[in-house]
Amino acid sequence: MKAAKKTKGKVSALQSVKGMRDLIGDQVFVFQGFCEKAAEIALYYGFKPIETPILEKEDLFARGVGQDTDIVSKEMFTLKTKGGDRLVMRPEGTASVMRAYAENGMHSWPQPVMFYYSGPFFRHENPQRGRYRQFYQFGLEILGSPKSILDATIIKLTTTILEESGFNNYTLKINSIGDAECRGAYRRDLVNYYKKNLKGVCADCRERIKTNPLRLLDCKNPMCQEIKKDAPESIASLCGPCKAHFKEVLEYLDAMNIPYEIDSTVVRGLDYYNLSVFEWVADGLTLCGGGRYDPLIEMLGGRPAPACGFGIGVERVLELMRAQAVDLDTGGCDVYIVHQGEGVLEAAFQAAERLRDAGLDVILHGGGGGFKAQFKRADASGAFAAVVLGE
Ligand code: HAM
Repeated sequence: MKAAKKTKGKVSALQSVKGMRDLIGDQVFVFQGFCEKAAEIALYYGFKPIETPILEKEDLFARGVGQDTDIVSKEMFTLKTKGGDRLVMRPEGTASVMRAYAENGMHSWPQPVMFYYSGPFFRHENPQRGRYRQFYQFGLEILGSPKSILDATIIKLTTTILEESGFNNYTLKINSIGDAECRGAYRRDLVNYYKKNLKGVCADCRERIKTNPLRLLDCKNPMCQEIKKDAPESIASLCGPCKAHFKEVLEYLDAMNIPYEIDSTVVRGLDYYNLSVFEWVADGLTLCGGGRYDPLIEMLGGRPAPACGFGIGVERVLELMRAQAVDLDTGGCDVYIVHQGEGVLEAAFQAAERLRDAGLDVILHGGGGGFKAQFKRADASGAFAAVVLGE
């Protein structure tokens, strides 16, 4: 028994943490290729890069994303420093960018301020298809303006990123959850409706009625779908200005020929959103999500700064692109040097360096094997040409 335990311990030291994976070789190229293309498009639109730390104070997300959300109540990787501070591995990027905006005095910069970022994020979720504990997002944030044309710009840019990457088999779903006032009225309608239908919903939804009623519309449990189908819609509760904002966003999308579906169940799982919210879905997975989040900075204790943005789940997009046989850019090299015999080793080494100096990506064959085996390796490398040296 003791021996079995010992072996188990040894084996698990050689395994990565649940829900976290290595990215190796071509996988890294594909990730980098996607994020570089997205960044290039964002630069065309006037966005600048931002990098925020992986560790943030727990309070940033507790206040910004919301205590009752799944992310904060169940999914954060939290650690305590020797000094007693509670820090978290960032579960998302928007609250961090907003913190950076306030902390670096960006209120006084010409508005709006526009940032893009990419990197790893961490959520303690149950790993499954498209769901990891460490995952990558490419995100965009426009801070300091309430204009509806910026919501439409974010949507247009996301659509461009997906299409330029060769992916166009998705649906854009959009909704408006209004401002605090119309959302308050809507929440009451929703709670009253669900209270009348308590018997038809799952235990989680009965809890959500008390803690986070908008999340009722997110429930995927088959037993709740019938009740959800006839639930009141947030756009029916919008006040005049919120209705006008949503109408403008839709008019911009129409003008740019961007197809969308209005979907009243899109409410987003983070508390900072207001007005327009949107998601891109394909094959049962949400690939990207975003919306306007004007209240966030005040939730964090800062001066008003209306904002909007979105985040793409890089793994999800790449997995679906692979499933749809979209060509993924895996890098590869230009020249593979095949060589045989001790006498040509130095010449092969020098040839590789000269070709590299000329700007080519070169692999100098490093293992043994005859010409046949080496040519197989050259083929597999994706090289455009092979240079052959023999005695
Ligand atoms: P989110 O919807 O929580 O929004 O995440 C954005 C995207 O990240 C999702 O649509 C999904 O593709 C991906 N994602 C989320 N969790 C996981 C996971 N566990 N494994 C793999 N992929 C995942 C946000 O994070 C907001 N900050 C987006 C935003 C930016 N809103 C405004 N600005």
